[in-house]
Amino acid sequence: MPSTLIDDIGELVTCEGDDGDLLGIRRDAAVVVQDSRVVWVGPRRQAPAADETVDAGGGTLMPGFVDSHAHLVFAGDRAAEFSARMAGVAYSADGIATTVQATREASDAQLRSNVARLVSELVRSGSTTFEIKSGYGLTVADEQRSVRIAGEFTPEVTFLGAHVTPAEYSDHRDEYVDLVAGPMLDACAPYSRWIDVFCDRGAFDAGESRQVLTAGHRAGLGLRVHANQLQQGPGVGLAVEFGAASADHCTHLSVEDIDALGDSARTDRPTVATLLPGAEFSTRSAYPDARALLDAGAVVALATDCNPGSSYTTSMPFCIALAVREMHMTVAEAVWAATVGGATALRRDDVGRIRVGASADLVLLDAPSHIHLAYRPGVDLVRGVWRAGRPVREG
Ligand code: NIG
Ligand code: FE
Repeated sequence: MPSTLIDDIGELVTCEGDDGDLLGIRRDAAVVVQDSRVVWVGPRRQAPAADETVDAGGGTLMPGFVDSHAHLVFAGDRAAEFSARMAGVAYSADGIATTVQATREASDAQLRSNVARLVSELVRSGSTTFEIKSGYGLTVADEQRSVRIAGEFTPEVTFLGAHVTPAEYSDHRDEYVDLVAGPMLDACAPYSRWIDVFCDRGAFDAGESRQVLTAGHRAGLGLRVHANQLQQGPGVGLAVEFGAASADHCTHLSVEDIDALGDSARTDRPTVATLLPGAEFSTRSAYPDARALLDAGAVVALATDCNPGSSYTTSMPFCIALAVREMHMTVAEAVWAATVGGATALRRDDVGRIRVGASADLVLLDAPSHIHLAYRPGVDLVRGVWRAGRPVREG
């Protein structure tokens, strides 16, 4: 494959920095990519010859965003529910049933084309690695086709049979948990890298969540937990206890939860606190206390939580802007959380940073610095996207 020199980069955000310069920013830099990898990074006047040259026009080149939390396999939407919420109705997990019904009724082709549409949005807005969860099928067959379809788009597939208990099991919830941790897991594990459980009000309690996480771990899957979105509870504690790769939402945390996430960051397999500000925006809820987590030393990631109920956005730039404006993260912290943080939440070190040997997953912004991601909210600044060295968006 020919080599490509990306030249005239005004600001290169490597995300390979240190405490004084979290984002490892370089000026007047160039990058060479070949065979899906970054092969050279340095000052442009020392750049080696390459087969092709791309002129970055003085813009910002940064790693592609890593969206470590998205529910993309579903049918229909819940615009009416959103509209009612904006008129004062509170969000509840009960709305998930509406999407479960629409998803069960959809054909494989309809589900696949909806995922393709959302993936196209994600990639156009600069996400080059993304996780996709099941969780709107909630039968063995519907969960299995959900993870199978998700796997056509990403290796980061998460089995979320433990999203909520479907209506047909409402009088015998224990049987549904046995199904998820037994035959449904057996059917989905071959297509999944991760298992997730929604441990919260209206979803699963500590004992049920433990059963699901234990079975998932035994089946060889990595663990993730939807934790403490709607109220304080056992989710974060369980995530840390089980060594989950991430505790997601973290909206209602106790001091013990914050300390546990901070302590876990000092191990070599941290449980990442994945914050999903699109959900608070769209459910009109209080945002998580990102500063308390950062001050405790926790590893923080940002992700979209894209789903038709609580956060129907595919835009990581929007989430960065929310994190800065509403959660008091610095711009550098938010950009780090949307790249390295997301990669850590997926236990990946080949994405989320620009260094020799990393996957050539790059975003070119039509902006002189990364700060514009938060400074110019809602503006599409992305001018180029490369995934594994291949241009997937030009202009
Ligand atoms: O992450 N919290 C649980 N699941 C989704 C919402 C699902 C829905 O409302 O459809 C979330 O926010
Ligand atoms: Fe979610």
